[in-house]
Amino acid sequence: MRFIEVDGVGPVSRIGLGTWQFGSREWGYGSDYAGGAAGAIVRRARELGVTLFDTAEVYGFGKSERILTEALGDERADVVVASKVFPIAPFAPIVRNRFEGSAKRLQLGKIPLYQVHQANPVVPDSIVMQGMGELLDAGKIGAVGVSNYSLDRWRAADTALGRPVVSNQVQFSLATAGPLEDLVPFAEREDRIVMAYSPLAQGLLGGRYGVDDRPGGVRAMNPLFGTENLRRVEPLLGLLREVAAAHDVKPAQAALAWLLGLPQVVAIPGASSVEQLEFNVAAADLDLAADEQAALTSAARAFTPQGVVPTLVERVREKLGR
Ligand SMILES: NC(=O)c1ccc[n+]([C@@H]2O[C@H](COP(=O)([O-])OP(=O)(O)OC[C@H]3O[C@@H](n4cnc5c(N)ncnc54)[C@H](OP(=O)(O)O)[C@@H]3O)[C@@H](O)[C@H]2O)c1
Repeated sequence: MRFIEVDGVGPVSRIGLGTWQFGSREWGYGSDYAGGAAGAIVRRARELGVTLFDTAEVYGFGKSERILTEALGDERADVVVASKVFPIAPFAPIVRNRFEGSAKRLQLGKIPLYQVHQANPVVPDSIVMQGMGELLDAGKIGAVGVSNYSLDRWRAADTALGRPVVSNQVQFSLATAGPLEDLVPFAEREDRIVMAYSPLAQGLLGGRYGVDDRPGGVRAMNPLFGTENLRRVEPLLGLLREVAAAHDVKPAQAALAWLLGLPQVVAIPGASSVEQLEFNVAAADLDLAADEQAALTSAARAFTPQGVVPTLVERVREKLGR
């Protein structure tokens, strides 16, 4: 495993574990997953050196935080749990209240990384950052992060907090490579972290799905799995398969290695099985050659998916964990 130092947080594994899938109905993994596989995935992740676990108050209405806590057991205070507050009316007392709810479910006195789940379109960051700053000053969180923030908004959040917002968690993969252009250079310059969510494009980069075999649940509404995008993505997937074969690894692993080949990027793939988790963690030790990295970057830039900006409905569903 490889680690990266994050201000206020400490060393963070460059492959983390995303836990939106835990207890959230929209992934369609069912109660066997929530009650069994999810915990096994967390425990195996720990054995393999993963220290970053991403969750949110809204995932499964708190179930993700609870399942994660139970699986981590006594180790929960030794790892970097990154949770998120959903900023509806994000005044300081409300942020404090939302924090207390998460801290209770996580059974933690201090949440190492606490993130604003998305930029509130009508309330400026000066409001939410007042509450976040108070939590930081009180030692109840290790560092403040944001999620789904543009670069301008990330900078505005810095100003509002009066100190650096250490990370920005954004949709980032070979199939959604926009952060390459602005967020990654900013993170490199300013020593921040870009945390790549949906780093496997929700499984698309696993290479298993196609027009005749599409995933259901929340992914049925993901435009990346639409017929036109599945057709357009073929050259990118073809190259990914080639690069993966050259290293004798899976396409998903090459996709994660490409992200880790970028400065200041960590990835938080979700997993439907322990086996997937093992493959994903192993990607942390995979080095792509410079020409492979560059070729994948060109292919990612050339892929222009239609309609991938999440619709409001998708966003709301993800936030509500349903
Ligand atoms: N901040 C936000 O707004 C936001 C939004 C979305 C996600 N997130 C966070 O980011 C995490 C990850 O994103 P995500 O779950 O949307 O997408 P993802 O990590 O790109 O995709 C996860 C899915 O891909 C498949 N997969 C995983 N490993 C694989 C492998 N080695 N080979 C083939 N397929 C594999 C699995 O689905 P199947 O096996 O069923 O195909 C798995 O559930 C979430 O859990 C959550 O913590 C945050």
